[in-house]
Amino acid sequence: MKDLTINLTSESRISKVDFHNLPFGKIISDHMFEIDFDGKEWVNPRISPVHKMEISPMNMALHYGQSIFEGMKASRSQDGTPLLFRPELHSQRLNESAHRMCMPKLPLSIFMEAVHTLVGIDQEWIPKIEGSALYLRPLMFATDEMVGVKSSDTFKFLIICLPVGPYYPKPIKLLVENHFIRAAPGGVGEAKTAGNYAAALYPSKLARDKGYDQVIWLDAIHNEYVQECGTMNIFFVFKDEVVTPATTGTILKGITRESALEICRSNGYNVSERELSIDEVLQKYHAGELVEVFGTGTVALVANVEEISYNDEIMKLDPNKWQLSTSIRNEINHMRFGTMEDKRGWTVPVNESISIPV
Ligand code: COI
Repeated sequence: MKDLTINLTSESRISKVDFHNLPFGKIISDHMFEIDFDGKEWVNPRISPVHKMEISPMNMALHYGQSIFEGMKASRSQDGTPLLFRPELHSQRLNESAHRMCMPKLPLSIFMEAVHTLVGIDQEWIPKIEGSALYLRPLMFATDEMVGVKSSDTFKFLIICLPVGPYYPKPIKLLVENHFIRAAPGGVGEAKTAGNYAAALYPSKLARDKGYDQVIWLDAIHNEYVQECGTMNIFFVFKDEVVTPATTGTILKGITRESALEICRSNGYNVSERELSIDEVLQKYHAGELVEVFGTGTVALVANVEEISYNDEIMKLDPNKWQLSTSIRNEINHMRFGTMEDKRGWTVPVNESISIPV
């Protein structure tokens, strides 16, 4: 990347952090990356100490939600090398979200150089404790100052790094949401855009008030087909088939979902990406054919589900001896912590002097 300026902090905050007690999303590392889109090109790339940003009250992202993000993780291998997990897929998905939300593409070369350089600088912030990681949050948002509904001409892209512990330390309980929806065909469900998360806040709060961790979203047309759970993709393991809802535009194309599918297939499971009605899940449960249910996502990795409530029915599951979710979780963790050879080539060692041709 041309003209990257790096300004390092003179006073790291790292000694104040208790890495054994990391509340999700509250602790930020020392540095951040920023670059601006001036209407024509990406300019002024910089890494500097984490700082507050000045925002105009007319900022278009605040008013109309032209904002997208990614979530990815850095870990540390046994010999101390910082590793990134499938960063090029995150760059690709960021640009797919950008396309849907009328935002400029960020070249892979800028994304990669920014991630490698920033994580290289803040690598001491990668927690050494099992189950923890440095969560990277790339974010792009509109910066035009105008209260009129149109696509912004200018944007900011930034990356911040947050050391995090396990998101769901124990199995979760899900409530099937049959009134509110997350996404409709033709909408923005596949984009990782801020509004999808804002729209989910109220139904998630209602579910939490009833004692559930998250909701299972159903499709918007029939109110019948399973979509996602909370902020994760969802997998159902039946006796003879592993099913996850197909990504047909309303579901986020999860990178952990993709990785889990590949692991299932290479372990010989019969895997389907298809429509799955909640009634089929219920019927399989009553027939004793529902073996495992788990969510997948960057933050949670693989979250086992111990209870699903749908109308008057409660499906109770016992995750203690589950094989598939355990093997997916273990394989990804082994790769991320360098305790197993990464035959799939999913982890990328951080290279601070990386330079990728545009
Ligand atoms: C992720 O798993 O990266 C997510 O997007 C979840 C996040 C919204 C907390």
